Amino acid sequence: MGETRGRVPHVLLLALIQGVLSSSTVEVLPSENPACAGNMVTLTLSPATQLQSGSWAVGGTQILTWSGGQQAVFPSHNGRASVNVSTGTLTLTSITVADSGVFVVQSTSPQLTATSTLTVLEPVSALRLVANNTGNLVEFKSSVSLFCSSSGSSLSYRWLNGNSEVTASDGIQLGDGNSTLTIVNVTRYNDGPFRCNAFNAVSNGTTEPLHLNISYGPDGVSFTVNRLNTTTSFLIGSTLTMSCSAQSNPQAEFQWAFNGKHLNGTSPDLKLYSAVESQSGLYSCLAFNNRTMSNSNVTRQITISSGSVSVQLGVSVWLVLLLSSLAGVLF
Ligand SMILES: *[C@@H]1O[C@H](CO)[C@@H](O)[C@H](O)[C@H]1NC(C)=O
Ligand SMILES: *[C@@H]1O[C@H](CO)[C@@H](O)[C@H](O)[C@H]1NC(C)=O
Ligand SMILES: *[C@@H]1O[C@H](CO)[C@@H](O)[C@H](O)[C@H]1NC(C)=O
Ligand SMILES: *[C@@H]1O[C@H](CO)[C@@H](O)[C@H](O)[C@H]1NC(C)=O
Ligand SMILES: *[C@@H]1O[C@H](CO)[C@@H](O)[C@H](O)[C@H]1NC(C)=O
Ligand SMILES: *[C@@H]1O[C@H](CO)[C@@H](O)[C@H](O)[C@H]1NC(C)=O
Ligand SMILES: *[C@@H]1O[C@H](CO)[C@@H](O)[C@H](O)[C@H]1NC(C)=O
Ligand SMILES: *[C@@H]1O[C@H](CO)[C@@H](O)[C@H](O)[C@H]1NC(C)=O
Ligand SMILES: *[C@@H]1O[C@H](CO)[C@@H](O)[C@H](O)[C@H]1NC(C)=O
Ligand SMILES: *[C@@H]1O[C@H](CO)[C@@H](O)[C@H](O)[C@H]1NC(C)=O
Repeated sequence: MGETRGRVPHVLLLALIQGVLSSSTVEVLPSENPACAGNMVTLTLSPATQLQSGSWAVGGTQILTWSGGQQAVFPSHNGRASVNVSTGTLTLTSITVADSGVFVVQSTSPQLTATSTLTVLEPVSALRLVANNTGNLVEFKSSVSLFCSSSGSSLSYRWLNGNSEVTASDGIQLGDGNSTLTIVNVTRYNDGPFRCNAFNAVSNGTTEPLHLNISYGPDGVSFTVNRLNTTTSFLIGSTLTMSCSAQSNPQAEFQWAFNGKHLNGTSPDLKLYSAVESQSGLYSCLAFNNRTMSNSNVTRQITISSGSVSVQLGVSVWLVLLLSSLAGVLF
């Protein structure tokens, strides 16, 4: 209560000094604030007020004055400023960051002074995304930094991997006001596409996507025979196609070994036509990545025989059952 009573005479005094009683009720409303450089901005009095004459200034620099139907623009704002002589609305075109400041409108009929602080920001432009390494990244070995740069006022940065936002976490560091993204110890899943989004209060921009080519593997080597995972016994005379695959970037190179001895050829497939019993043994598929310089292998015992033990067993069990049921019928 004491505060309120103390402030009333003060406000009255200020109003009396300026000879303005209505100013506290009139506001200046910018059409946009912050405003984007290059745009047109209007400063409107609210509530709308009929003004016979007045002037606009910014930060102590006169912009224009008007009286009746006539307006005069000062050289500093020539060609860029105009006023609606009945409402006092100021229009400023091709605004720049230098137009930021406290705008003051003053009028003598009726008496009023009102101000507004306008901020003009440079929009995002010249947005660029570069990586310090795109072609020679190896999983679990390399680190990479992505740099986003742009012109514009008061910029903030955000990173996208696909459509999800990237946040700092284990192995992912954001630096330099979030304009730099560092991935420590890349994995195959850090391939992106990465995009950088720069923004301020008046604009935003997003870069083209950047893919990282990360070498990895080989791992997850899978070895099938005639497209089967688990079958390892085959009949004499069968044709066997052994196929090997691995997760690897670039594609793995393959080699085959039989009982530890390397076979010729680098095809991921090894074919045995009309297999014979002596081709039973240990088959190894070796996968090699010449970029990561690592290799991986799988070995499987393949048996070529005239019939499988389990099948013979099955047949004899069936015979015994048949015989015993026949015995049941007879006796
Ligand atoms: C001035 O503002 C009034 C009210 O918005 C409008 O009717 C009038 O057309 C404006 N005058 C000019 C010259 O733009
Ligand atoms: C990179 O990650 C791998 C697997 O997580 C780990 O073995 C290796 O030590 C890490 N290297 C560095 C430099 O952090
Ligand atoms: C790229 O930046 C990362 C992280 O700052 C660094 O570890 C790596 O050595 C840099 N690579 C090159 C090729 O400069
Ligand atoms: C950087 O981004 C994080 C969100 O990942 C945000 O919390 C932080 O304020 C940003 N820092 C700057 C300087 O913009
Ligand atoms: C980004 O800018 C576009 C115009 O270029 C605008 O339509 C959109 O709303 C802005 N998005 C954000 C999040 O500011
Ligand atoms: C990635 O790099 C390897 C060589 O390291 C190359 O063979 C492969 O084509 C590249 N992949 C893409 C998608 O550029
Ligand atoms: C082979 O086994 C792997 C797991 O060991 C499985 O992911 C894959 O689907 C199997 N392939 C076939 C053809 O059964
Ligand atoms: C493997 O290739 C070498 C030459 O490339 C040849 O001398 C050798 O006879 C081949 N071995 C077999 C088993 O085909
Ligand atoms: C590495 O392997 C790739 C894919 O198999 C092949 O195109 C390339 O020529 C190899 N590079 C070298 C140096 O052997
Ligand atoms: C196959 O892989 C094992 C480890 O899994 C390794 O000890 C062995 O040397 C490899 N064999 C070949 C021929 O590379």
